[in-house]
Amino acid sequence: MPSLQPSSLPDFLYGTAWKEDRTPALTELALRVGFRGIDTANQRRHYFEAGVGQGLAAAYRAGVVTRSDVFLQTKFTYQPGQDHRLPYDPTASLSDQVAESMASSLEHLVTDHVDSYVLHGPASGYGWTDADSEVWEAMIKERDAGRTRLLGVSNVSLSQLEQMAARHPEAPAFVQNRCYTRLGWDRDVRRFCGERKIRYQGFSLLTANKEVLRHPLVTGLAAQANATAAQIVFSFARAVGMLPLTGTSNADHMKQDLASIGLALPAEAVEAIESLAG
Ligand SMILES: NC(=O)c1ccc[n+]([C@@H]2O[C@H](COP(=O)([O-])OP(=O)(O)OC[C@H]3O[C@@H](n4cnc5c(N)ncnc54)[C@H](OP(=O)(O)O)[C@@H]3O)[C@@H](O)[C@H]2O)c1
Repeated sequence: MPSLQPSSLPDFLYGTAWKEDRTPALTELALRVGFRGIDTANQRRHYFEAGVGQGLAAAYRAGVVTRSDVFLQTKFTYQPGQDHRLPYDPTASLSDQVAESMASSLEHLVTDHVDSYVLHGPASGYGWTDADSEVWEAMIKERDAGRTRLLGVSNVSLSQLEQMAARHPEAPAFVQNRCYTRLGWDRDVRRFCGERKIRYQGFSLLTANKEVLRHPLVTGLAAQANATAAQIVFSFARAVGMLPLTGTSNADHMKQDLASIGLALPAEAVEAIESLAG
């Protein structure tokens, strides 16, 4: 049986998308710098999950961390989100695709369980479909079999979450969404999550909000705190309850991103940043 000892939730997730051949070295570097949460997906089009496994193995060998120190998160991705390098037989049922994708993830990540397994996105941009229900039930089976501790959904709207809640008694532990300032930093979805003790994971906090990084409010706060605008954004994200992701490939940025954990913003600053969208 896999160990289900709860590795505590990390303060930050290191995102491994779009790193291709650099994935093993960057994963190992992120662990050496101090990240203890790793986000990946069994979607070769955007992620090199086996490379994440190589980076983890190198960090284990070097004694940087052990498996139980690391919060490992991966995802199930429907065929339309994949290229030809599929981790499952596309003619199999969706339930079987989930099981095959999970087995392949565990092989890539050289482990007997992950800490979080996330539906990369619903089958349709509109609504929660029967396909999503079948996949979610299959993910619950994976969790019940001990192959993941927790479950999540990604790229979801408030209405999809409401429809999901109407069909399934069990709520996800995580929602992972791209977090745009212009949408009130995904305010409606964050409120839904807050009411149900679902942890909101925000990604592309920097790349989706370039104007915020240049905004005088944020640059002023950064100057006052002797910090960078990126650190202010990550500190804000944490202050409003998010578990942020960073996708940096730069060692200094990795250190700065982690250092934002120690940066406490005054309540007025948090409120002002939250209301930047109007
Ligand atoms: N669920 C999904 O569908 C989904 C979709 C997209 C992403 N994600 C996850 O979220 C992760 C992060 O996404 P992302 O790459 O869009 O996020 P991001 O962290 O907003 O963007 C990364 C960019 O920000 C820069 N950056 C990071 N830290 C910085 C700092 N301290 N100062 C200045 N620039 C900094 C990086 O440049 P440098 O490399 O030069 O630092 C890089 O260009 C992905 O790797 C993936 O794991 C999930």
